[in-house]
Amino acid sequence: MKRIGLLTSGGDAPGMNAAIRAVVRTAIYYGMEVRGIERGYAGLIEDNVIPMEMRSVSDIVQRGGTKLRTARCLEMMTKEGKAQAVKTLEKHGIEGLVVIGGDGSFRGAKSLTEEFGVPTIGIPGTIDNDLEYTDYTLGFDTAVNTCLDIINKLRDTMTSHERISVVEVMGRHCGDIALYSGIASGAEIIVVPEVKFDMDDIVMRINRSRASGKHSNIIVIAEGVMSAEEFTKELQKNTTHSVRPTCIGHVQRGGSPSMADRMLAAQFGNKAVRLLNEGVGNRVVGIRDNKIIDMDIFEAVSMKKTFNHELYETLQMISM
Ligand code: F6P
Repeated sequence: MKRIGLLTSGGDAPGMNAAIRAVVRTAIYYGMEVRGIERGYAGLIEDNVIPMEMRSVSDIVQRGGTKLRTARCLEMMTKEGKAQAVKTLEKHGIEGLVVIGGDGSFRGAKSLTEEFGVPTIGIPGTIDNDLEYTDYTLGFDTAVNTCLDIINKLRDTMTSHERISVVEVMGRHCGDIALYSGIASGAEIIVVPEVKFDMDDIVMRINRSRASGKHSNIIVIAEGVMSAEEFTKELQKNTTHSVRPTCIGHVQRGGSPSMADRMLAAQFGNKAVRLLNEGVGNRVVGIRDNKIIDMDIFEAVSMKKTFNHELYETLQMISM
């Protein structure tokens, strides 16, 4: 393979830049040329293609966001959109494509493979950690660390005022950001889409903690359940303690990637290009049991995300 394309798609995630760097540098190592496609699939359809050299990816390993920019592209779900995307690839002599993104982005890659025979490799880049085939997605660790920083600050003020904080984190339909940031911050309660919540039980846990001398409570709620505002209104009807909502929002999508995300980015990007160099396409890369793996893209997108109930129970046992 002489020339490959690279794009980032869907919601950005810390570590995408580090992955771009790894892809470009590995490709150059193998003597391949790289074309960057700006603005994800939208840029592929609209022919926003730029050459990428060794120095195009200097000074980005530490930066959040994506240098190639990104977009959510509905047109990529249409026949015309896909045909236009393939035309751009052909025009630039791009023989294989690396797609950094989440579930929706992988579906776009899958259809380029399935319907047009374009070899694609997917790198899981999303803060949501909602892909079953990989233990971690790029950006999840940094996003959780950002949430922790904010929850630590909330704990200070909540304790001073003896309040309850309801903190909303992202994750779309997946509760992993809430689960991990809840456990790691010492939150008393997490509310996730995967487990039905019981308001009486939540109030009982709060009262029990107060009776044992606690001066504040943190409840981390995943956006897939309801907003912090809505939950606060419900909870306030059931408790005399004062409750305050906080939505972390897009802050958790930005920032310099953590060591864990930079390491994943380096390995995912490197593996993706190694595969293309071996003539292997139609795969996604990931990490399982601390090993970098690759898997058939069709199989990966058909897997349903499972929730770690053992971790959820751990929180129930140790946070009180
Ligand atoms: O997929 C990443 C994510 O941040 C989700 O957690 C969230 O639901 C969504 O994207 C928000 O999307 P947007 O930035 O387009 O509003």
